[in-house]
Amino acid sequence: MDAILVRGGNALNGQIPIAGAKNACLTLMPATLLSEEPLTLTNAPRLSDIRTMTQLLQSLGAEVTSLQEGRVIAMSCHGAINTRADYDIVRKMRASNLVLGPLLAREGHAEVSLPGGCAIGARPMDIHTDGLAKMGAQIDLRDGYLYAKAAGGRLKGAVIDFPFASVGATENIMMAATLAKGTTVINNAAREPEIVDLADCLRRMGAQIDGDGTATITVQGVDRLGAATHPVVADRIELGTYMLAPAICGGEVELLGGRINLIGAFCEKLDAAGIDVTQTDRGLKVKCRGARANAVDVTTEPFPGFPTDLQAQMMALLCTADGTSVLEETIFENRFMHAPELIRMGASIEVHGGRATVQGVERLKGAPVMATDLRASVSLILAGLAAEGETKVSRVYHLDRGYEHVVAKLSGVGADIERIKDQ
Ligand code: EPZ
Repeated sequence: MDAILVRGGNALNGQIPIAGAKNACLTLMPATLLSEEPLTLTNAPRLSDIRTMTQLLQSLGAEVTSLQEGRVIAMSCHGAINTRADYDIVRKMRASNLVLGPLLAREGHAEVSLPGGCAIGARPMDIHTDGLAKMGAQIDLRDGYLYAKAAGGRLKGAVIDFPFASVGATENIMMAATLAKGTTVINNAAREPEIVDLADCLRRMGAQIDGDGTATITVQGVDRLGAATHPVVADRIELGTYMLAPAICGGEVELLGGRINLIGAFCEKLDAAGIDVTQTDRGLKVKCRGARANAVDVTTEPFPGFPTDLQAQMMALLCTADGTSVLEETIFENRFMHAPELIRMGASIEVHGGRATVQGVERLKGAPVMATDLRASVSLILAGLAAEGETKVSRVYHLDRGYEHVVAKLSGVGADIERIKDQ
């Protein structure tokens, strides 16, 4: 397994390019199952999760070709396909459940393994399955698989009220509804930019979708979808992650491709923390106004609120902020696993259930720490950038799931960082 070594203390200056969004690409790829025609994605990120989704779609019978060193993904899916998504792939990545809606819509039946829990929470699928049941699907759970069958062979439009604005359930139902008979309305839909990006792609394929980006999405089912080429939207979580690098250790960095409308609530919090964010014609310029950030309170919420996927990274900044900050994690039940690792670096953090109280210290101290999940791993690297001495982050396979070329991107703006072979 590899590890990443960070020697803290360098101020960062220069530019970091932002890649296409992992969480957009992971829902755009299953959309190929909805059509007999080709679907080509450009600006795709090069990540292990994308390779896992590629394997899954190929196991279902789709042709998936990676071009231009992974920046372009060319897909097509002809004729009858395999409708069983096996546990040995699904267990590696929860987003595999996003083939359920498209398979049901295309073939009228599907057998998709439940993904099982993950480090940050139980991650049930009840909102997905209740919505599909409203559309006429009979869904049974047997030997760890969801066996789904559309009554009469085709889903029908329905009015679906989500108890929670689930991102994945919105994506699954929206995709399923494109080929359903009649109109589907999703109330309390997720509003994330990845939902809008998926709707844009589906419209390019011929789908009739309105209201994406708001809490009410309406889909008028059609009989078939066609071909499309679609650019993956910029990754707002990678963007927010790298914005915190100069915020934590000083300097000024421009994030190429960054747009404030992708991360409004996050930018407001950075402003309150004393971090300047300026939109340029190439992206976002970020610098810390003072020697230390100000303490701020953060509550994670569905978009357009503060993203849960930036909570761990924000905690790294607040560990050396001037004052006490309270972070409330309202989306997942176990998303503070980075806290004990940050404490090893001298942070002062108390966790009680979904609340973490952070007492800012002058400086963290480098230490050997362990990545526990994707976003926790990068928060440890951010902390290492500002810490005194060397930090070794182990189990960086977590990092490879969601961040391409971290060492190159950070060393390119002056960080002392390298990837090494670990035991
Ligand atoms: C997506 O996960 C993202 N993953 C997550 O990013 C992100 O943290 C999450 O949305 C919230 O923004 C992808 O897009 C691939 P949810 P998803 O359904 O769709 C509960 C990362 O780091 N819930 O909005 O699984 C669930 O348990 C990953 O890139 C149900 O109870 O998120 C959780 O507590 C991590 N029943 C909450 O809702 C359901 O049927 C949010 O889940 C579905 C969800």
